[in-house]
Amino acid sequence: MMVSYRLYWTLWMLLCFEQYFSQDLQIPEPPNKEEGDSVVFTPDNPPPSTSILITQWFFTTATIIIVVSGVPTVNPAYEGRISFDSNTFALELQNLRQSDSGIYRLSVTTSAGETLTGETSLQVEKLSVRLIGPEEPLIEGKSSANITSKGNGIITSVQWMKDNSPLSPSNSIIFSPDFRSVSISPVQRSDSGEYQCTYTNPVSSETAKLSLIINYGPEDVSIKGLGEVNSGAPVSLSCSANSVPSASFRWMFNGTDTGVTTDTYTIDKTDLTHSGDYNCTAWNSVTNRSASQRHALLVKAGGGGGGLSTGAIVGIVIGVLVAVAAICGLIVYLIKTKKMPKITLPKNGRSSGAAQRRQEPDLNYADISHFQKGSGERVILGNRSEPSTEYAEVKRSGTKSTAPPPPYGSQVSNPPLRR
Ligand SMILES: *[C@@H]1O[C@H](CO)[C@@H](O)[C@H](O)[C@H]1NC(C)=O
Ligand SMILES: *[C@@H]1O[C@H](CO)[C@@H](O)[C@H](O)[C@H]1NC(C)=O
Ligand SMILES: *[C@@H]1O[C@H](CO)[C@@H](O)[C@H](O)[C@H]1NC(C)=O
Ligand SMILES: *[C@@H]1O[C@H](CO)[C@@H](O)[C@H](O)[C@H]1NC(C)=O
Repeated sequence: MMVSYRLYWTLWMLLCFEQYFSQDLQIPEPPNKEEGDSVVFTPDNPPPSTSILITQWFFTTATIIIVVSGVPTVNPAYEGRISFDSNTFALELQNLRQSDSGIYRLSVTTSAGETLTGETSLQVEKLSVRLIGPEEPLIEGKSSANITSKGNGIITSVQWMKDNSPLSPSNSIIFSPDFRSVSISPVQRSDSGEYQCTYTNPVSSETAKLSLIINYGPEDVSIKGLGEVNSGAPVSLSCSANSVPSASFRWMFNGTDTGVTTDTYTIDKTDLTHSGDYNCTAWNSVTNRSASQRHALLVKAGGGGGGLSTGAIVGIVIGVLVAVAAICGLIVYLIKTKKMPKITLPKNGRSSGAAQRRQEPDLNYADISHFQKGSGERVILGNRSEPSTEYAEVKRSGTKSTAPPPPYGSQVSNPPLRR
């Protein structure tokens, strides 16, 4: 540590010493430059040019140009972007880039063998761009947005993009004459997105990005859910709206605030008092706009789980009784006829009662289907409206009937059960 400190001290002393004794040419330091800019280094006190044998400009340790007896040799790295004035010893450097920042030194040797030197320094700021956008929230159809680009650098072109496609002027998108800012008025939701601005010069290019969010809505409020349920069933109504930012919700029932502020209104177990008008109001806190939708819910008595209406109970009881009677009837019938394949239904009068007779078509239907599926028997059904005729008959296959059977469907169009 001590050694290096001493070394620095010595070097510093040497530099001061050298500057004091050999810094003969005064070259003013130019103001800070920007990328793409150009600079001219001119000594204030040039020696008479006629007495000069060798002129040399250096950037740190590299030679930029050396002129010996009026014949210049340029470092290829600087070819095309420097110019030298042999009368004033001025060096111009064009298309500056950040890496040109540093110390420049001029060395002039006279024909007498005396060497004069001078130095100066240059600072080149990097090309930069940034975007300044609106601070206030933007509301569709109402706000306007200005995006302004600011930055350093000599700019030869400015390019604007939105979501990676070129941004073109339109009725609502207007660029400033210098193309460094764009004004959007009024903003639409389609103006939401990422804006990019690129500054370019022959040396480099830089891009800045800015995102705009256009707030809108709510609109298209809709309620999804059942319109009719049986009492006891759960109901869930869900409300949605097209809105940026997301809307908040409020539910009213029959004109009274329910205090529910979620997007879904849930009733775990409905009863008849839940019938009525549900109103969902969506509100966007940024646009300060709201929109609503209604949904009518009808809770019907009866149905699932708890409450069965009297009508339903009566219906079920009758149904069960009819089914029992039908099964009894079938059993009795099968026992009486014994011979399973041939079934001849009793003629009117042999039936024991009206109730039993009512079941018969149902039984026949079942038997017919069974036989048809089983052994390809043909089925002929009589006309039930004439009580005296046989209205169903199943014949054993093999005894082919000449007459084609009547269309089956039309024959059983009468419901199996009559009330
Ligand atoms: C946008 O810029 C235009 C012109 O440059 C100006 O008239 C307008 O007031 C600006 N709007 C906003 C919101 O800054
Ligand atoms: C709600 O309104 C409907 C229809 O106007 C009405 O039938 C129902 O009784 C009302 N319910 C309550 C709890 O107010
Ligand atoms: C929002 O709108 C309501 C009326 O619709 C108004 O009373 C209120 O002042 C508004 N709020 C703001 C912040 O603009
Ligand atoms: C819902 O209720 C609000 C507040 O009372 C009312 O302004 C709105 O018109 C209602 N919406 C519908 C669709 O009835």
